[in-house]
Amino acid sequence: MRMYDVIAKKRDGHELTKEEINFFIDGYTDGSIPEYQASALAMAIYFNGMTEDERATLTMAMVESGDTIDLSPINGIKVDKHSTGGVGDTTTLVLAPLVAAVGVPVAKMSGRGLGHTGGTIDKLEAVPGFHVEIDNDEFIRLVNENKISVIGQSGNLTPADKKLYGLRDVTATVNSIPLIASSIMSKKIAAGADAIVLDVKTGAGAFMKSEEESVELAKAMVSIGNNVGRNTMAVISDMSQPLGRAIGNALEVKEAIDTLRGEGPDDLTELSLTLASQMVVLGGKADTLDEARNMLQEVIENGKALETLKTFLSSQGGDASVVDQTERLPQAKYKIELPAKQSGYVSDMVADELGNAAMQLGAGRQTKDSVIDLAVGLFLNKKVGDYVEEGESLLTIYSNNEDVASIKDQLYNHITLTEDAIEAPTLIKTVISE
Ligand code: URA
Ligand code: CA
Repeated sequence: MRMYDVIAKKRDGHELTKEEINFFIDGYTDGSIPEYQASALAMAIYFNGMTEDERATLTMAMVESGDTIDLSPINGIKVDKHSTGGVGDTTTLVLAPLVAAVGVPVAKMSGRGLGHTGGTIDKLEAVPGFHVEIDNDEFIRLVNENKISVIGQSGNLTPADKKLYGLRDVTATVNSIPLIASSIMSKKIAAGADAIVLDVKTGAGAFMKSEEESVELAKAMVSIGNNVGRNTMAVISDMSQPLGRAIGNALEVKEAIDTLRGEGPDDLTELSLTLASQMVVLGGKADTLDEARNMLQEVIENGKALETLKTFLSSQGGDASVVDQTERLPQAKYKIELPAKQSGYVSDMVADELGNAAMQLGAGRQTKDSVIDLAVGLFLNKKVGDYVEEGESLLTIYSNNEDVASIKDQLYNHITLTEDAIEAPTLIKTVISE
């Protein structure tokens, strides 16, 4: 087989066979197919797309290009959740103990964040003593015992995706639905997921800015999952403004604790219940989404969700007393209000720009090697649709640096007030279950 012929075939709009896709992924991973031929194929795929069969084959070829995690010693259906990324997205911290509390095993491999705020591991490390450096046997024992554990990324998972994503990044071929969908799904499958719930964000803070594109991406991922034997569901959710009120690591941990206690912000609570219901159905613990939601509401009300969080934190060295005494989480030195310059209705709080401001305070990494300040971030006192009086605080800046003048200017530039009343954006746009 010659790579030249594979490129020409896709260039002319034909469907590639399984042998041709495997030939490309194997050769690209081991270096026998050069970058220039891989980039030509990526561009041909960008323009001509891929069929459902091609997408499923590409996904599994990338899964098989490296190590895969074997979660079979864990009892039950392992359901993983993936978010396409947003600002102040605290759902994983809520979902993990929430679904574990109704018996769905959560065996999560997680990473550190780049950009806006930290990743799930960074957030969890705001709990004093908590660590993810546990070995595989311990990880499996903890999930079987407590239904929940989080481990740091290890092993050489999906090297083909790593290489191809890097190449796409510099050849203007990132924005291709088949390539994004297979990239995301390959990583989840390699990490051992039997079933997958996807939260595809849409709006300013999201990778996909329009709802149509987000739906298309979600459908592509759901179809890949179902074609390769992993039941998959998806939700399209709003990311035009940040999710919840907290942006920043310790602030988001507190927000997750509040939510598990039933006292969280409405939007974070609603999205968490929606995604968790899908996880519970896919995990085989309920037959319908409504039944699942009732079970979840019950463990919030009877305190079992919060108990599961405490067990989880202390099982990995964390000080679980932070759950009842959140003031023991890292605290910023300064709390600085951002007063409204006029009265009106909040019509826009641009998610990615607020995320950027939080990053500049130190809540996120500007480069891979930046050190995160776990205490800092933003807390939104107002959200889109709320009325604010002149001088009233729009948000609170949590900072370890007293001088936040330039960050204030930046925030004012991305928060818009109008005279006319405005509706809050719909949080859950679509639910895709097959
Ligand atoms: N995220 C991924 O993991 N892969 C893509 O291709 C795009 C976003
Ligand atoms: Ca939040």
